[in-house]
Amino acid sequence: MELSEAILARRSVRNFRQDNIPDDRIRELIRAAIYAPSAGNCQPWHFYIVKDTGIRKKVFEQACRQEFLADAPVLIIVCIDSNKRANRYGERGETLYNIQNTAAAVQNILLSATDLGFGSCWCGDFDEYGLRDILQMDDKKIPVAIVAVGYADFTPSAPVRKSVEEVATFIGEWEACAEETSEVRKIEHCDMGGTVFRDVNLYGAEISDVNLAEGKISECNLRNLEIYNCCLDGMKVNGVEISRLL
Ligand SMILES: Cc1cc2nc3c(=O)[nH]c(=O)nc-3n(C[C@H](O)[C@H](O)[C@H](O)COP(=O)(O)O)c2cc1C
Repeated sequence: MELSEAILARRSVRNFRQDNIPDDRIRELIRAAIYAPSAGNCQPWHFYIVKDTGIRKKVFEQACRQEFLADAPVLIIVCIDSNKRANRYGERGETLYNIQNTAAAVQNILLSATDLGFGSCWCGDFDEYGLRDILQMDDKKIPVAIVAVGYADFTPSAPVRKSVEEVATFIGEWEACAEETSEVRKIEHCDMGGTVFRDVNLYGAEISDVNLAEGKISECNLRNLEIYNCCLDGMKVNGVEISRLL
């Protein structure tokens, strides 16, 4: 199926046939999930695949008794795994990126399910702690979505969407960027320990065999900048230790 077709054909399916889904198909769904983008490619997710009828019933109890969760042959519980989080993004990574990373994985599962001929539904309305208990999750796992998957018994038509004009704002017209040139071309073989580069155009510059230890770079144009064979101990770029950026 073409991607554009899958995007339009995907629906939230809440009526499933009582037919098993083979594990190799489920693996394809998880494989699609893990190809989702994640901040710094930290892949901070874990997936519980629930087929057992008794456990599916327990999940249904923790999710406002939404019938389709008990009926779907497979439930994929998508979790943030904070063991795998990217520490370098701090609070923003913790609260925002982890939700976005796992949401991207969920969307890949939904589109892949459509492509493979399955119906699916994203469920977000559940008791997080109840679900953690049922699946005996360690305290680093945070369930963020339940994806019900199965062969659709009924596929609803698409709920009305807002128009592109209602939701999108186009700003300006494109024009090619003027060619950038650097004020600084080459810096070689010198001691510039502690030097502060501030508001300098370093576009395409080359810095080699230079001691830049304890130096600072901020508000500079760094596109196509090359730095090699340099001592970078304690150097900061926009306030961040360069060793944390490499
Ligand atoms: C974050 C999120 C949480 C959702 N939670 C539920 C849910 O708990 N139960 C449910 O039946 N559908 C749930 N949905 C599905 C939406 O109701 C559905 O996507 C929406 O009505 C649009 O329909 P469509 O998916 O067929 O395009 C959820 C969707 C999202 C993105």
